[in-house]
Amino acid sequence: MASGIALAEAVALLLGVGLGLLVPWLVQRQRSSRHRLPLDHQMIQNRYALLAQREQQERWVSDVVHELKTPLTALRLVSESLANDCNPRQARLMERSQKEIVRLQSLVEGLLELSRLENTPLQHHTTPVTVVDHVKTAWQVLLPLAEPRHVDLTVTSPSPAVTVPADPSRLQRALLNLLDNALRHSPNHGTIQVKIVTDQTWLKLDVADQGSGFSERDLAHVFERFYRGDASRARVSSLMIGSGLGLAIVQQIATTHGGTVRALNRPEGGASVRLILPMNSPVSSETRLTAGL
Ligand SMILES: Nc1ncnc2c1ncn2[C@@H]1O[C@H](COP(=O)(O)OP(=O)(O)O)[C@@H](O)[C@H]1O
Ligand SMILES: [Mg+2]
Repeated sequence: MASGIALAEAVALLLGVGLGLLVPWLVQRQRSSRHRLPLDHQMIQNRYALLAQREQQERWVSDVVHELKTPLTALRLVSESLANDCNPRQARLMERSQKEIVRLQSLVEGLLELSRLENTPLQHHTTPVTVVDHVKTAWQVLLPLAEPRHVDLTVTSPSPAVTVPADPSRLQRALLNLLDNALRHSPNHGTIQVKIVTDQTWLKLDVADQGSGFSERDLAHVFERFYRGDASRARVSSLMIGSGLGLAIVQQIATTHGGTVRALNRPEGGASVRLILPMNSPVSSETRLTAGL
């Protein structure tokens, strides 16, 4: 028992220090490799070399992420079983460790997803997708978190339901990320409004909530990888522990579908995020320019 407790303390300490060092390193590595690209481009002025470098970078992210997944799962299992033998002080340490492991797992999953999005061409997976159905499916996933807080969803959409050419699982992921953010920032008894409108060329889907909205600083950065705003603006913790990758993933999904995403504050209060997707693919660059995308 005593040695179990000593081990628990050691694991908690190691995790605290280890993850504290690992996460900033991973973030810094990802940032600096992204920022190097334009400089390399200028220096070598060779498109093929640049593409090769990018491919290598993406492979690197994917390899690291795969390598991290298994030990993280093992660490989580070990710390969960040790938590049963801890005194209250040690239990607090273990809880902190577990939180960090879960956050790191979420970061790793997010990075893997971004890397997959960048590497797998969309064309192989598109099919006509009924967007409103996917909104409802995503909401079902969040219901266990929404119901205890009495947060409702209303959906307005054209009738008959419209389809867009999309990869169903990627669209589902984008909607889940947007609804998860809206739910996290909604007050209890609040309503999240999803509004879908279309014209000949575009489908526009707004996810609006009644929360605190984006801060000025957030509006300039929310789509950047690893950007996390002030946690105190959120009402509760969410299904996906904040990694700052949620909106970056949404943006990547929108872009690969030939669309875009925008964030704004509603005049009546609360945040609104607009996902814009082409009704038909592919969308010409002229059409994109005219729409200001
Ligand atoms: N609906 C919203 N209302 C207010 N702020 C939001 C909303 N959605 C996102 N944000 C802000 O944008 C940041 C980035 O969001 P995201 O990329 O999903 O990362 P994460 O949710 O992991 O923090 C959040 O940390 C939060 O500060
Ligand atoms: Mg999020």
